[in-house]
Amino acid sequence: MATSPLPETTQQLQSRVDADGTLTLHLAEVPVAPPADDEVVVRVEAAPINPSDMGLLFGGADLSALQASGTPEQPVLTGRVPERALPAMAGRIGKAMPVGNEGGGVVVAAGSSPQAQALLGRTVGVMGGAMYTGYRTVKANACLPLPDGTSSAQAASCFVNPLTSLGMVETMRAEGHTALVHTAAASNLGQMLNRICQKDGVSLVNIVRKPEQAALLREQGATWVCDSSAEDFTQQLIEALSATGATIAFDAIGGGRLASDILAAMETVAVRSQGEYSRYGSTVLKQVYLYGSLDRGPTQLHRSYGMAWNVGGWLLMPFLQKAGRDTAARLRQRVADEITTTFASHYQGTVSLAEALSLRAIGTYGKAATGTKYLINPSA
Ligand SMILES: NC(=O)c1ccc[n+]([C@@H]2O[C@H](COP(=O)([O-])OP(=O)(O)OC[C@H]3O[C@@H](n4cnc5c(N)ncnc54)[C@H](OP(=O)(O)O)[C@@H]3O)[C@@H](O)[C@H]2O)c1
Repeated sequence: MATSPLPETTQQLQSRVDADGTLTLHLAEVPVAPPADDEVVVRVEAAPINPSDMGLLFGGADLSALQASGTPEQPVLTGRVPERALPAMAGRIGKAMPVGNEGGGVVVAAGSSPQAQALLGRTVGVMGGAMYTGYRTVKANACLPLPDGTSSAQAASCFVNPLTSLGMVETMRAEGHTALVHTAAASNLGQMLNRICQKDGVSLVNIVRKPEQAALLREQGATWVCDSSAEDFTQQLIEALSATGATIAFDAIGGGRLASDILAAMETVAVRSQGEYSRYGSTVLKQVYLYGSLDRGPTQLHRSYGMAWNVGGWLLMPFLQKAGRDTAARLRQRVADEITTTFASHYQGTVSLAEALSLRAIGTYGKAATGTKYLINPSA
């Protein structure tokens, strides 16, 4: 059943990498699939360009060297993926990949199952992949129905950042830690985590790289903010770790030596409280999870923190699978209930599918700088 006739085709943003490293971005016309019994069709009205989408969009190509051609309605962008990045892309070579992890919109057609029917006409957040498109057919259970009055723009970022920031707090508890450290902490995700931690009474150490980012977080009620550009950064960090007892960190940067510096500061605090000297270092387990790659350079570990430490990767989907269905449902419900408060995201602007492929827009959102995130409105 549909609220109005579905179009036969819709525009979809696609990214292709060829074997010689050529990257091509363009808009394709693809069929709109009618919904199966357990599916719905969503008219996508807002989809964020998250850092994780940029990996699939641009394949690590130098954004300043992209070439634009085509027309304003049918833009084509070409670029070059660095040779060292190609082996990891073997699975996508020559394939036109649809992009866009998540988005928000209105359910305009639904299959016959009660779960699908219940969504007809509702505004939903969708974690469907391929969301940079006008109409997207997805399983009903990929949708999060939102309270009446929620706009598609408010629904756009229901999954990636909200569930990741909630997942950090869940992971902290599950692994026996009592406070946490977060880097690139003025990000959309970082501001969300700051709100969650204040609401839930969890101590959070925010690491940022600019004074204005520290001011932003303090204005939003953060107690512990350490600026890595400050001369006394190490002292700031040790003081915050000592006051909070944080022994787990989530690092969005990945490259460079910040993860190592966090472990070293945690060890300084642990050794102080241990009292007795051990040449093997403290017995306090110090954990850093790399969950982003804002710096694509090598992760440098300058081991000066004994042997009780781990550095590992952290991704939302494996976390949700491990946490189980009940936990995932509880977290999703919290996001729906607090979508305009705790889990609100901020965007610099909204662009159409074609405008998202303009060099001007890429010059802004491609930096992944604080406050420069864009929404795509594929229905514009
Ligand atoms: N593992 C997962 O499952 C998962 C899920 C969701 C999100 N993430 C990750 O979470 C991070 C934040 O996402 P978001 O959507 O909240 O980002 P966002 O709002 O676009 O903010 C990005 C932030 O990163 C900072 N930044 C950029 N490059 C940096 C660098 N090289 N060193 C230090 N800071 C840098 C920016 O600060 P400046 O203004 O100083 O540049 C900005 O504050 C991303 O890395 C994303 O990939 C991971």
